[in-house]
Amino acid sequence: MRLKDKVAVITGGAMGMGKGTAEVFAKEGAKVILIDFSKDLIKTQEELKENDFLVETFQVDVRDKEKLKEIYQNIFDKYGHLDILVNAAGIGTQASFFNADGKILSDMMDINFGGIWNSCQAAIPFMLKNNYGKVINFASVTGVMVVDPSMTAYAASKGAIMALTKALAVEFAPKNITVNAILPGMINTPMTQKSSKEANPSDPQKILDGLAKTVPMGRLGTAEEAGKVALFLATEDSSYVTGSAIVFDGGSTLPESPGSGWQPEDE
Ligand SMILES: NC(=O)c1ccc[n+]([C@@H]2O[C@H](COP(=O)([O-])OP(=O)(O)OC[C@H]3O[C@@H](n4cnc5c(N)ncnc54)[C@H](O)[C@@H]3O)[C@@H](O)[C@H]2O)c1
Repeated sequence: MRLKDKVAVITGGAMGMGKGTAEVFAKEGAKVILIDFSKDLIKTQEELKENDFLVETFQVDVRDKEKLKEIYQNIFDKYGHLDILVNAAGIGTQASFFNADGKILSDMMDINFGGIWNSCQAAIPFMLKNNYGKVINFASVTGVMVVDPSMTAYAASKGAIMALTKALAVEFAPKNITVNAILPGMINTPMTQKSSKEANPSDPQKILDGLAKTVPMGRLGTAEEAGKVALFLATEDSSYVTGSAIVFDGGSTLPESPGSGWQPEDE
């Protein structure tokens, strides 16, 4: 019960890595508050409650800063503390550079980056009241370490998250608030399943299998594994870690010569 009595807010908690984090945190005794704009939020809450986990949900868009402020105020009034904020809400549209203008770019920046900005502005004042806080931002290896074609807007939003993470970390370090990022590689979540379906509507599994082959560990990561990385950043095990990024990718960013055919000789 490493998070016993801690209050943890998780955006994007209806599915994917936000949900995986919620499950791990709830098992460790946290009171979990999920924020998401998806209708699936109710189903997720029911699933978690079946295991007697303490879960509250709010169906909200992370672009709505005023609503987030209201919710975080209510949480603080109810529990007297807001200890952990996990920002996992995000979208992952692909578009070539000249097609990525307008709505694609503004959604990407307003949700992926702006959502984290809003959520931090709404939550950190309550962390300051208790001189304690753990902020965990889901960025990506994309844009921070590597990038594929047609990912300009997504990569830019993720680079901005990493910059914000470092800037917040230095600003709030004297107040005992740590701010860190997780950089996932290829994780098997609804986001990845949706992109695979768009890429190959008749056989999305073929895309997922192809992605897995590019990962040195030979498989995609899971939402639960993401939750375990977040758990490290949420506990005192990471008390001296701030402004950092944990790469969570099964080694996918490591190969030096992918596609070159270079192989060491077998013994
Ligand atoms: N899946 C991957 O391989 C991968 C890799 C690198 C980074 N990431 C990042 O990790 C985070 C989580 O990804 P995931 O794969 O679990 O995604 P997902 O699509 O499976 O889940 C994301 C959740 O965010 C919610 N959400 C989206 N926009 C929202 C908004 N405006 N307001 C409130 N909720 C909103 C969705 O409803 C959903 O429940 C995202 O930021 C994503 O970019 C994912």
